Amino acid sequence: MRSKKSDSTDNITMLKQSISNYYREQFGSVPEIIVRAPGRINLIGEHTDYNGGLVLPAAIDKANWLAMGRRDDNLLKISSFDLKDEFNGNVIAVSKSDKGWPNYLLGVISELQKDGVEIEGVNVAFGGDIPIGAGLSSSAALESGMLSGLNRLFDLELKKMDIVKLAQKGENRFVGMNCGIMDMFASVMGRADSVVKLDCRSLEYEHFPFHAPGYTLVLCDSGVKHALVDSEYNTRRRECEEGVRLLQAVSPSIQSLRDVPLELLLAEKERLSEVVFRRCKFVVEEIGRVEAVCNKLKMNDLLAVGQLMNQTNDGLRHEYEVTCPETDFLVEEAQKQAFVLGARQVGGGFGGCTLNLVAAKEAPVFIEKMKAAYQRKYAKELPCHEVKLMDGVTITA
Ligand code: GLA
Repeated sequence: MRSKKSDSTDNITMLKQSISNYYREQFGSVPEIIVRAPGRINLIGEHTDYNGGLVLPAAIDKANWLAMGRRDDNLLKISSFDLKDEFNGNVIAVSKSDKGWPNYLLGVISELQKDGVEIEGVNVAFGGDIPIGAGLSSSAALESGMLSGLNRLFDLELKKMDIVKLAQKGENRFVGMNCGIMDMFASVMGRADSVVKLDCRSLEYEHFPFHAPGYTLVLCDSGVKHALVDSEYNTRRRECEEGVRLLQAVSPSIQSLRDVPLELLLAEKERLSEVVFRRCKFVVEEIGRVEAVCNKLKMNDLLAVGQLMNQTNDGLRHEYEVTCPETDFLVEEAQKQAFVLGARQVGGGFGGCTLNLVAAKEAPVFIEKMKAAYQRKYAKELPCHEVKLMDGVTITA
């Protein structure tokens, strides 16, 4: 679903209305609830979630919208506005669909069933404005939104953290993408004008107001789609696990890279292959950068926040090796601008968006320059978007 309206509030009203109308066209009745499930950015803390580390994401003003209503049978009927496609199944016997896209929704039903939770038939019409494969977690938003909606429709009494964990399990076990917990967490737990620091080991979290007077966050979408399933993502996870396994020989109490001090890693470098060492070094330093950014945010030191974002990108590019030429180019171009404090690729990697911390009054100039540079270099459009940080999943009647 796309809106020409630039103002967030107008855009939200328009998207909500569109999905409600679409539900009515598809199912001939009014939806009982409308769920807004936002995508996310991550200010810092990339590839740290599955290493028991810290992350600092936020929910944004791009979202999936799900219009939902109960049925009086056991059928599951799903219509995708954006794909103009349908899925018809049954909530009792959920199995993987060859179509691909329904699996994000089926996966969470399957997880509920594994927990012995029964639901009845449901109609779902969904669509949204989170670009797919852009590193903004449109799939996690879909899973979180579906679960939140089912929770409301069938009074399942799931707490927000239950929803987060079930959505992650659905993605891991049903879709087959071995992601961490960050994306679902951000989509559910996000708060307006705030980032949220999550400790992915203890699952404790803390919201931080994102006070950036005079600055704004801008996304530049390279249009390069990351193919995370069956991709390098799972390889990176294995490399980190390999590092942990080898370091356990030195210190058996190490459970994840979160438990590895940088000094220990440097001292034991020879135990690891060159590649595994680089991967581990990135993660250990990145966990440290999350703490550092939180401290700098408290001091309103945005210059330092920007520098840490730049360091993250260097690590993603040279140590973790999850960037691509297009995002490298966008980050380099952005970092050349005096009014940009920091720029980096965001999300799982291999394409998607870059996140830029930009002087607010220069944002239009920045966007214009970036679009022109991308056009010159790759002869491609560069969608850019000034981000607003929003509340996590919301449900309205
Ligand atoms: C993807 C995964 C997340 C996280 C990021 C990288 O978005 O779904 O769990 O690992 O990549 O930080």
